[in-house]
Amino acid sequence: MIKVAPSLLAADFARLREEIARITSADMLHLDVMDGHFVPNLTFGPGLIKALRPHSELVFDTHLMISNPGELLEEFAAAGSDIITIHEESTFHSHRLIQRIKDLGCQAGLSLNPGTGLDGLDYLLPDLDLILLMTVNPGFGGQEFIPAMLDKIARLRKIIDASPHQVEIAVDGGINTENLGEVIKAGATVIVSGSAVFGASSPCEVIERYREIASGERC
Ligand code: DX5
Ligand code: ZN
Repeated sequence: MIKVAPSLLAADFARLREEIARITSADMLHLDVMDGHFVPNLTFGPGLIKALRPHSELVFDTHLMISNPGELLEEFAAAGSDIITIHEESTFHSHRLIQRIKDLGCQAGLSLNPGTGLDGLDYLLPDLDLILLMTVNPGFGGQEFIPAMLDKIARLRKIIDASPHQVEIAVDGGINTENLGEVIKAGATVIVSGSAVFGASSPCEVIERYREIASGERC
């Protein structure tokens, strides 16, 4: 079974409580944190995550697109994040930060930009819960899926399957009902999706459709 993680970035920011009430059938709420430095856009921080926490039972999946993520891990854990994902490109010390995320009681994720290779992941797999492959360049919702990422997903699937570790492969950016089948066939297990879910008149129908496509690909 896949896990569906609608990205709050595509929600109506003036009505966030109502927006998260539209996706109760999802598995996770994907929270895109941007600092205007690591990526050329700004969104929100731990204060907003903390304010939303009492209004949702979904797994809070916090995606940190920020420089110096190590300086704010405590705040994002205390705000109610269940998963904290940092970018490989944002730190010299991904291994150390992954340990700190685990010590804070959260699951740890590592995200890779489209141009970042898979070398060196073997040494991080024992401690990672999730690897988030960016399938667009981070910073904005509503972009086109980059087709070359299908091969990257498949290569990562092989690396994980050849290891004794259970690590989710999340994909993030440009996912919709048209390309989801290929993405799942390549090996993704967590589907982050913003505009295709929140932009629909019935987000739960899109989530249901994603699950149907996934069960078609797996059987
Ligand atoms: C992009 C974000 C994504 C984005 C996905 O930097 O990390 O989570 O919101 O949105 P869509 O599905 O619209 O590409
Ligand atoms: Zn994201």
